[in-house]
Amino acid sequence: MKSFVKNNLPVDSIRRFLEPGPIVLVSSEWKNKRNIMTVGWHTVMGFSPSLIGCYIWNENRSFEAIRKSRECVFNIPTIDLMKETIAIGNSEGEDIDKFEAYGLTPLKGKKIKAPLIKECYANFECKLYETKMIKSYNFFVFEVVHAVAATTPKFPKTFHYRGDGQFMISGDSKSMKSQFKPQYL
Ligand SMILES: Cc1cc2nc3c(=O)[nH]c(=O)nc-3n(C[C@H](O)[C@H](O)[C@H](O)COP(=O)(O)O)c2cc1C
Repeated sequence: MKSFVKNNLPVDSIRRFLEPGPIVLVSSEWKNKRNIMTVGWHTVMGFSPSLIGCYIWNENRSFEAIRKSRECVFNIPTIDLMKETIAIGNSEGEDIDKFEAYGLTPLKGKKIKAPLIKECYANFECKLYETKMIKSYNFFVFEVVHAVAATTPKFPKTFHYRGDGQFMISGDSKSMKSQFKPQYL
């Protein structure tokens, strides 16, 4: 078994070890103003209903748009959209239309009004499901009400934030399926 030499860490720096899934682009629309923000702090919260939670800082323009419209889209970009994703996460949608500014195409959703991003690998239409933690933690819980994803490649090159401007790009896949109980797959 491996053993590690370890140093103490400031507790406010541990997030880089726990950063969850891929960076997502969250698109929204409120009063005919569409917008996009970059989000790394999200988590799966259940399968049926399909729930996801995420932290949206209340200084972001998207915060009020999503709180009031009660919907948004989780769009999953691949590495070809890395530059745009960083720029979207470093600009406020107050004065610009981020779709236009970063060359992205809005698509109509099936179940909600907020636009999907065509250039992303997958798009999950979400409705606000639980609001209790918005005020106290800026934490939104959404239900995915419609989802589409590209069929190839099976394992897209998504990117995952490590903090301090560093990203991990998803790499090799290894199947361990035979060792799983079916209910945990
Ligand atoms: C890699 C990356 C990850 C981010 N993750 C989050 C996040 O999880 N939650 C959040 O509130 N802001 C996050 N941001 C910051 C927002 O995307 C950023 O403040 C954006 O400008 C908000 O846009 P808006 O004001 O138009 O809504 C992230 C930014 C980057 C670059």
